[in-house]
Amino acid sequence: MSAKSPPGVFDILPEDPSEKWKSSYLWQFVETAIRKIAKEYCLKEIRTPVFERTELFLRGVGETTDIVTKEMYTFVDKGDRSITLRPEGTAPAMRAFIEHALANTSSLNKLFYIGPMFRYERAQAGRYRQHHQFGVEIIGVAEPEQDAEVISLLYNLYTRLGLRQLGVHVNSIGDAESRTAFRTALQNYLKDHFNDLSSDSQTRFDKNPLRILDSKDPRDIKIVAGAPSILDFLNPASKLHFETVLKQLDLLGIPYQVNPKLVRGLDYYNQTVFEIVAGELGAQNSVGGGGRYDGLLKTLGGPDLPAFGFGTGIERIIQTMINQGVDLPNPDVPALFIIPLGDTAKEQALSLAQNLRNNGIATLVELSGKKLNKAMQLANTSGARYTAVIGDDEIKSGTVKIKNMHTGASLDTTFEKLPTLGELC
Ligand code: HAM
Repeated sequence: MSAKSPPGVFDILPEDPSEKWKSSYLWQFVETAIRKIAKEYCLKEIRTPVFERTELFLRGVGETTDIVTKEMYTFVDKGDRSITLRPEGTAPAMRAFIEHALANTSSLNKLFYIGPMFRYERAQAGRYRQHHQFGVEIIGVAEPEQDAEVISLLYNLYTRLGLRQLGVHVNSIGDAESRTAFRTALQNYLKDHFNDLSSDSQTRFDKNPLRILDSKDPRDIKIVAGAPSILDFLNPASKLHFETVLKQLDLLGIPYQVNPKLVRGLDYYNQTVFEIVAGELGAQNSVGGGGRYDGLLKTLGGPDLPAFGFGTGIERIIQTMINQGVDLPNPDVPALFIIPLGDTAKEQALSLAQNLRNNGIATLVELSGKKLNKAMQLANTSGARYTAVIGDDEIKSGTVKIKNMHTGASLDTTFEKLPTLGELC
């Protein structure tokens, strides 16, 4: 057998020097920032299984979407059920919301999740078959200010993490009435260009013509440039909603551009949709995106509540940070590296280390019995700030010398004082 992962997935290692974004300390750093901002916006975490009944995504994401037609990992389990690895987090969060009647438990349902999603996409830079999303889903608020607040949350997360050249693209795809009017106008325009459209767009012409608007195929882009704008078809209520979102974004100081071609690839959206891109990744690869999905809960058999949310790929956040030369944290290192000489010292070293760790000091003990100079080399490569060599003399006297690995200076102390020593804390 070959010790090689399948295409399109990756390991996150303690440190990956060749592809730094695959280093777990960077993931922890970003996830900590995410949890912090989630707390500040008073979001509550939800964790759903990585697989669901397939029908959830057929109904939730939409039967004509790329995700459902091309990208799902679907299999029949031993109980003869069709099961799908979740390609996204919104439908599962709504399923859990309905199943546990969360509408009855709180009128404020502001949820977030962090977890892996699975899509059988063509493997290429920035697109993976297992990717990881931070998602936010706010249920129960129909007001346009809610849309702006959630967009600003994502924008603020990115700026806190140091991302630059952010492009916040916003659009309104209106309510069902506005979209019906637009759909007819769009089809009327596109039918004269039908033969020049990509084959994907030809398939979408009847079932989902709005998706042709944000096709990435150069042939479609040319044709779509002259297409009518959805913004001219918004009915008064949809227009007012969108204008209020933009006004609130202005008030929050979030720079944005209205992009009438932005549609997004999932069927549940209505009214506001948005995506945030960051310079280097290019317009094809948004770092995050989302929108309003007022009808989804009802479609899935739940209460008729409005909702707004987004998902952002954690790999894309970290890759952008690296590409943009953001100041990154360093990997964690031991505060103290203990080198015991002999078996008795080893026993003592472990007790001492336990004491240190219980005082919050990151301690590593060299247990393999290496000779002193080899052990010192290990201490060096571990990046430890201090080392302590413990032999018979130290055990007898209860004293120990700790050596600063950066300056080479030493300091005498006792086993007793070590766990509270300022230098190590
Ligand atoms: P989405 O745009 O399909 O939306 O995905 C959200 C984000 O996940 C993307 O902006 C991107 O950063 C990341 N992403 C998606 N697919 C991949 C991939 N194959 N490889 C790497 N990163 C990827 C949703 O999934 C919606 N559920 C978002 C949402 C939540 N809308 C409302 N609530």
